[in-house]
Amino acid sequence: MLRPFKATGTDAMSSSDNKTERTLADLGVTQPDQVVSLFAEVRARFDSQASRPLDHPSWEILRQSWLGRKSGALTLITENWLKAASPDLKRSVGQELNKLKAHLETTLDERKLDAQSLADHSVSIRERVDLSLPGVIRPIGSHHLIRQVFQEIEDIFFSIGFSVVEGPEIETPYYNFEALNIPEFHPVRDDMDTFYLDLPKGAKTPLLLRTHTSPMQIRTMEKQKPPVRVIVPGKVYRRDNPDATHSFAFHQIEGLAVDTDITFCDFTGTIEYFVKQFFGPSVKTRFRPSYFPFTEPSVEFDVSCPFCGGTGTASGGGTCAKCKGAAWIELFGAGMVDPAVYGFVNYDAKKASGFAFGIGIDRLAMLKYGIDDIQVFFQNDVRFLRQFP
Ligand code: DAH
Repeated sequence: MLRPFKATGTDAMSSSDNKTERTLADLGVTQPDQVVSLFAEVRARFDSQASRPLDHPSWEILRQSWLGRKSGALTLITENWLKAASPDLKRSVGQELNKLKAHLETTLDERKLDAQSLADHSVSIRERVDLSLPGVIRPIGSHHLIRQVFQEIEDIFFSIGFSVVEGPEIETPYYNFEALNIPEFHPVRDDMDTFYLDLPKGAKTPLLLRTHTSPMQIRTMEKQKPPVRVIVPGKVYRRDNPDATHSFAFHQIEGLAVDTDITFCDFTGTIEYFVKQFFGPSVKTRFRPSYFPFTEPSVEFDVSCPFCGGTGTASGGGTCAKCKGAAWIELFGAGMVDPAVYGFVNYDAKKASGFAFGIGIDRLAMLKYGIDDIQVFFQNDVRFLRQFP
């Protein structure tokens, strides 16, 4: 006798009760109407199993247990009921069996489609985009404080008609020195310990990392006739050992204004305007004589200490830590463009006049924002960066 198919190891999805394993004679079925009600019983059991929600695997188990060739219910019924039926029952068993078979097949086909759409549905639920969920928040970061100070200064000079130009960080000695009236062996070259590039043998000109943004004065005037009003923000390099106020790379903004009638008054007025915009209207400025080969006269600009109000005394008494009691803070170098420089750019030195300045950005940022170590600008520690969102 054939064994019943037990796909799940339980009877939950099984077609069999022991009736399909026994013959009609064993079951005491002798009349055609008994055959009909026996088949109705089987069909009701199938219908109840087929009416459960089915996914693919459970649909397959159901199919196997009813239509499986070796031990499905239909096979058992064929073997145990039909083949063993007495001649007077054979016909009605055959008819009922055919009806049952047709019913099983159509129902299983329908349920297969349902199982498929159930699977599709659960996939679509899994993959559905819920637009009401909060989005992924990506921190967008902020400008580095140096960049912010650049922008602050650029805005001030934009407002009085300057424009921004930028230039190469790798320069020739001509632009970095000679054309700025600093010939070879001029002592000021000693102030700028310079990084020269290692060039292939036979290279025509030495190259260096610019030690200041001043070379862009020359490049700008070479390209453009007066009037010139530019500022040049950028990185510069010197062979300095790192400490709280020195770094091998730092930042400058060069300024240059050249026209036919620019006076020393225009110069000091412009600088004063800038300094008051940057530190606040109550600061005072002063200049002291200085020396740069490319300006004549040259000056050093100071600002009255914005932290102690130019008194040199801290608010709680004692010496102001920022200006060390001096009441003034040295800001940057500047001057009227030396006529010798005009000679390098084919300007008429008799007609052209103008001024230039070179602002150290790191120093200014440190002053304004109370930073006591230039190295923090380059370490990029987020605990520092986050303080300047
Ligand atoms: N280039 C100078 C330096 O790095 C700074 C400077 C001084 C620039 C005077 C100027 C200027 O344009 O007029 O030390």
